[in-house]
Amino acid sequence: MATIIDGKKVSAEVKEQVRQETETLVTKYGKKPGLAVVIVGNDPASRIYVNNKKKACETVGFQSFEYALSEETTQEELLELVQTLNADEKVNGILVQLPVPKQINDKAIINAISPEKDVDAFHPENVGRIMIGEYSFLPCTPAGIMELIDSTGIDVSGKKCVVIGRSNIVGKPMAMLLLHRSGTVTICHSKTENLAKITKEADILVAAVGKANFVTGDMIKKGAVVIDVGMNRLENGKLCGDVNFDEAKEKAAYLTPVPGGVGPMTISMLMKNTLTAFKLQNHIF
Ligand code: GUN
Repeated sequence: MATIIDGKKVSAEVKEQVRQETETLVTKYGKKPGLAVVIVGNDPASRIYVNNKKKACETVGFQSFEYALSEETTQEELLELVQTLNADEKVNGILVQLPVPKQINDKAIINAISPEKDVDAFHPENVGRIMIGEYSFLPCTPAGIMELIDSTGIDVSGKKCVVIGRSNIVGKPMAMLLLHRSGTVTICHSKTENLAKITKEADILVAAVGKANFVTGDMIKKGAVVIDVGMNRLENGKLCGDVNFDEAKEKAAYLTPVPGGVGPMTISMLMKNTLTAFKLQNHIF
């Protein structure tokens, strides 16, 4: 029977560390870290994420700046806002909530964000830095997953790690972080043959597929650490992961639930990145 990894608890611990460090820095330097969150259009899921990010800023003592732009916003208008935020000293981190409406090229927006303020770590400069292991920011979801793995006390070094999914936001950077910790990493995806044979060898299995209950019990090695990145909305409105929870808990040693696993970590890591950005921009080490 698996131990369930409590993402809410680990997330609260990270936020508390950030809050305490922020309090010390505010006393010493007389200014607060600032995060600008830009939302374009009316996507209800994006609205919830943005509200949660604002709430987390309050919890840790940051200033948050929200820019809610209309669905009709042009790429030029958004680029102009990004330039203004790049130049604003009170703004240490910039996050443009994705997806953006279709008239806007999200790559052009990501490229326009100053790499020092790119707290998502989506800018090609930051992506490249992760590749060579010389980074200031890590993308929030993979960084949060590493915290969850660390919370089990299991050392990644030498372990067989399998990541299912090859997105730029989760799969690829996740594989790189596991590799930096000396894991033996395999990336699987929709074209992978004999998937179950590969996943069944994994000591650490990260599922970032986007398909409800995709990973079944027979795909999991007994005693594995299983991390479920999925956030799939079922027809009945319930949230469901990529891993069949009931089957996985009979096989895994550690398992993240959905909700309450990876999700809460993402925002905490965003807070951590914003604090890092503040320190870098103010030459505090
Ligand atoms: N949309 C869903 N997840 C994310 C994220 O981590 N960052 C941004 N900017 N948009 C998102």
